[in-house]
Amino acid sequence: MGLWGQAMVRVKQFYRALTAKIEPADRDFLQKYLGEQERALFYQMDPIDQRHCLDVAQHAYRIATARGLGPKRATLVKAALLHDIGKIRGETTLLTRVAYVLRRRSIERRSGAKTRILSGHAERGAHMAETFGIDPEIVELIRDHHKQPTSKLAALLHEADSMF
Ligand SMILES: [Fe+2]
Ligand SMILES: [Fe+2]
Repeated sequence: MGLWGQAMVRVKQFYRALTAKIEPADRDFLQKYLGEQERALFYQMDPIDQRHCLDVAQHAYRIATARGLGPKRATLVKAALLHDIGKIRGETTLLTRVAYVLRRRSIERRSGAKTRILSGHAERGAHMAETFGIDPEIVELIRDHHKQPTSKLAALLHEADSMF
């Protein structure tokens, strides 16, 4: 993407941030790709992040369709809808359980042989998704979404994420 393209993305991002809105068609889309608990998680993001994830997911859906991705399209869309859940702030009732599990895991980690530092919203989001029993393939897509893509799905998510 050239400089002009990047500038246009910024302008669109700014405009979308001002007008972030979830339409009935978006709710249908969410209903189709996410289970009840996953939707509850989705709606805990800031409206701007919700809008961003919807835009990324709907774009991912279009490119997956255009490139004949097949049954993996649903995996990609779901990962796109949830990829930034690690940005959810604070502890809410639903997140209390998550926070508890994260705390327990970090204690286990510190006392165990493996030490791993939770870094940034990608890692945090992946842990949250894991706690909710989300498909490990999606957990990995969330965890790696700011890294150099190493799979076709990761590359498509990366491409869609960079558009909004
Ligand atoms: Fe992200
Ligand atoms: Fe993102």
